[in-house]
Order: sequence, then C-alpha cells, then structure tokens
Amino acid sequence: MSISLKGKRVLITGSTDGLGRLLAIELSKQGAFVTVHGRDEEKITDILAELSGEGHSSVLCDFNNAQSVITEMQKVDELDILINNAGMWQEGDTIDLSPQDIPNLVNSNLTGMLLTTRVLLPTLLKSSFSQVLNVSSVAGVEIPSDYYHTVYSSLKWGVQAFSEALAKEFDNKNMRVMGYYPGGMETDFFKKVGMDYEKHEPWMLNPNESVEAMVFMLTRNPKVNVKRLDLINHLQQ
Ligand SMILES: NC(=O)c1ccc[n+]([C@@H]2O[C@H](COP(=O)([O-])OP(=O)(O)OC[C@H]3O[C@@H](n4cnc5c(N)ncnc54)[C@H](OP(=O)(O)O)[C@@H]3O)[C@@H](O)[C@H]2O)c1
Repeated sequence: MSISLKGKRVLITGSTDGLGRLLAIELSKQGAFVTVHGRDEEKITDILAELSGEGHSSVLCDFNNAQSVITEMQKVDELDILINNAGMWQEGDTIDLSPQDIPNLVNSNLTGMLLTTRVLLPTLLKSSFSQVLNVSSVAGVEIPSDYYHTVYSSLKWGVQAFSEALAKEFDNKNMRVMGYYPGGMETDFFKKVGMDYEKHEPWMLNPNESVEAMVFMLTRNPKVNVKRLDLINHLQQ
C-alpha cells in the first residue's frame, strides 16, 4: 500500500541542480509543497519557476556558513519530509587533495546535513508522520579496490552512520529515517570539480531512476521503512 505526497511539505537540500532539482519537480507534480534549498539565488529562482502548482518556497544558505544554515533553516515552520541531498564530489587519494579542499567537502557532504537535520527536527516532530531521507552513495557502502576517493567515501560512510543511528532514535515513533545509496549518475556533479567524465559513462544511472527509487521510499505505508536502498547500474551500459 502506498501513501500520497499531495499536500506534504517537503524540503530538499541541494535542489538547484542534478538529482535534487529533478526530485523537486517530480514532487511538485505529485502535489507536494516544496521548499527548495541552494546557495545560489539565481538558481533558486530558476527552479522555483519550474515547479508545478503553488505554495512553494526556498531557503538560501551555503553549508560552508554554519550560522547561516541555522538562521535560514530555522525559518521553516512546517515540514513533513526532509530530503538531505546536497553534496559535492572530489576524487583522488588523500595526498592528492589540498588541505584547503577538505573543510568544504566535509561541510557540503556531512556537516550541512547534520546541522539541517538538527535545526529541523523539532519542526518535523510536529507533523503527524514525518520522514527523513538521506542521500549517501555506493561510495558510502564499499571502498573500491582499484581507485580511491577516500575523503568523499569517509563522509558518505558518515551519512550512512547518521542515517542508521537516527533511524534507531526514532524506531517505533511517528518518524521514519531512510538512507539512499546510488551509484554514479548523469549530473554535473563531476564536471563541477573539473573532472572530464562524459555526460554518460557506462556505469552511470539516469538521475530520473533515482527520483523513481526515492519516490518509492517516500510513498510506502507508514508502518514500512525502506531503511536503505542501494541502486546501481548492473548492466554497465
Ligand atoms: N552524481 C553522482 O554520480 C552521485 C553518485 C552517488 C551519490 N551522489 C550524491 O547525490 C547527491 C546529489 O548529487 P548530484 O549528482 O545531483 O550533484 P549536483 O548536480 O552537483 O547537485 C548537488 C546540489 O548540492 C548543492 N550543494 C553542493 N555543495 C553545497 C554547499 N556547500 N552548500 C549548499 N548547497 C550545496 C549544489 O548547489 P549548486 O547548484 O550551487 O552547485 C546542488 O544543488 C549528492 O549528495 C551526491 O554526493 C551523486
């Protein structure tokens, strides 16, 4: 049995681009009131214009500025679903990253999620049934044997630990916590940090496949928790 997202208040972090953006569009089509989040005002205006229906809103803050995350997220006063999706890529062995890269990676992939969730928990708990869906990665589940993205993996493993621990905190209560673990997706995720991947590499998923998987998780009967879902392109084509 599935539940409807119509009328649900949903906040999606990192919804100015890629997966978050597509998910915001889809959830608005299903009748949800979407609060988009990003760090770029123009991109926020663009995505708001693409949403179906009325009643959407936005939060503007960069996860590198903790005080602004706290101040801006605190302005959200009604919420049923929090989707912690924002993140950024960085490839390479630890020695390949400059020390200056590391705080940005930590804030964008993990600290922003912890802060956002902490600030919004009291609001979520006012809902008769709330949901938190955290986006990690296959890199947050297994370490590849042939190449490394050690810092990124550490942070996505952190997301896994947070999701599993938070789910335990809310076991048997009116909130379910889920973790989503996708393989590589065709977004600008890699290009933004200067990687020259083709738009479509054989191992990549279409991000709309992730949207479908996440909608499946969010629409299960409240008694059921798809606590974790790994999605990979197993045909590599
Ligand atoms: N693409 C993949 O291959 C892949 C695979 C597995 C997991 N994931 C995970 O899936 C999620 C979505 O990735 P995507 O592929 O959709 O990437 P994307 O297209 O680059 O979108 C990432 C979103 O996060 C926002 N963001 C990044 N750093 C931020 C910060 N410091 N403060 C505020 N917002 C920030 C971006 O804002 P801007 O629009 O301003 O850049 C954008 O809205 C991420 O958590 C990623 O780690 C991606």
